[in-house]
Amino acid sequence: MERRRVAVLGGGTVGAELVRLLQRHPAAAAVELLGVLVRDAERERPFAGWRELVTTDPGFVQRADVVVEVLGGTGLAADLSLEALARGATVVTANKAALTERFDEYLPYLRAGRVHCEAAVMAGTPVVGPLTGALAGSRPLALHGVLNGTCNVVLARMDAGASYADALAEAQRLGYAEADPTLDVEGVDAAHKLTLLGRLAFDPALAWEGVRRATRGIARLAPAALAAERERGRRVRLVASLVLGAAGWEGRVRPVALPEGHPLLTDGATNALLFRGDPLGEVLLRGPGAGGGATASGVLGDLLACLRGEPGPRPPAAAAPLPDAPGADEPLDEVADGAAA
Ligand code: NAP
Ligand code: HSE
Repeated sequence: MERRRVAVLGGGTVGAELVRLLQRHPAAAAVELLGVLVRDAERERPFAGWRELVTTDPGFVQRADVVVEVLGGTGLAADLSLEALARGATVVTANKAALTERFDEYLPYLRAGRVHCEAAVMAGTPVVGPLTGALAGSRPLALHGVLNGTCNVVLARMDAGASYADALAEAQRLGYAEADPTLDVEGVDAAHKLTLLGRLAFDPALAWEGVRRATRGIARLAPAALAAERERGRRVRLVASLVLGAAGWEGRVRPVALPEGHPLLTDGATNALLFRGDPLGEVLLRGPGAGGGATASGVLGDLLACLRGEPGPRPPAAAAPLPDAPGADEPLDEVADGAAA
């Protein structure tokens, strides 16, 4: 059997767990693992043969049939991935920042089905596959999601009395936060994910700049604002929404107050996504959305699909038809940073 040559970019929270999972999987026999790119080749990694596998020299990536990118950022990670795609390799990635901010460069390869990115949104909980597959048979009306595990942990811990700083430190310790956690707490990570989903399922031309401008995070939310909502029987969560605006599909991210029992109201790193479509109606997808194991599970699922020769998700050729009128979706109450009156 000819083995597929796989290069892994990144051996951190996700990359190390991915290699560990792969080494224990029956599919390991079909893979020649060429190496794992890291910054510090002396630091011990929790997978077998780490000393021989880790390297700071990206030269080995050129020999790979499949490049798994779990390095992060919009620079080197995207440069190496795009070089690999240009010479015919397939890419599996969990990097929503690179996919979103350099989308035009990835687009031809996405259209060719050579980029797998299920774990870029909601980690190993499937959303990219359903939105570009079974749900594509319905005309989209709206999408709302709790897409950032770090913010969810911070808000839930603050509800339980923790300080913002302690709650964020907890999310970092659990491996949920980005290398730069301001991306999480300022809402940018959720905006990256929303834009990626929007482009894959609603409109491939959805503009990142527009979503970024309409993004407000949780970093300045006063504990008193959370307490005031709790007194009203509501809890604050960071929600990303794609709805019909005056000029077409509009994406926004902001803290909103959700009544107890709302399907988007989750604790910990559990993410949730509500899709409304015609004629299907409302669909809820919910599950782990961050963390080394949860994300590596999704990355490995993509790698296995890739080894079977299956294509990645393809964006639509054109924007989905707009709903007949604004108001097809109920508004969610945005919460201001200060205490509510
Ligand atoms: P991480 O723990 O910071 O790991 C990043 C890895 O990349 C580390 O091994 C690091 O090397 C290596 N690296 C970074 N810059 C490098 C450079 N310039 N040259 C060589 N190696 C470099 O990050 P992570 O949490 O695993 O996340 C990785 C990616 O997955 C990101 O795109 C993130 O958004 C995405 N993701 C993460 C999660 C999650 O829950 N953590 C969930 C979904 C998606 P060293 O180890 O030597 O520093
Ligand atoms: N930093 C991200 C989060 C990781 O907290 O949701 C998962 O994409």
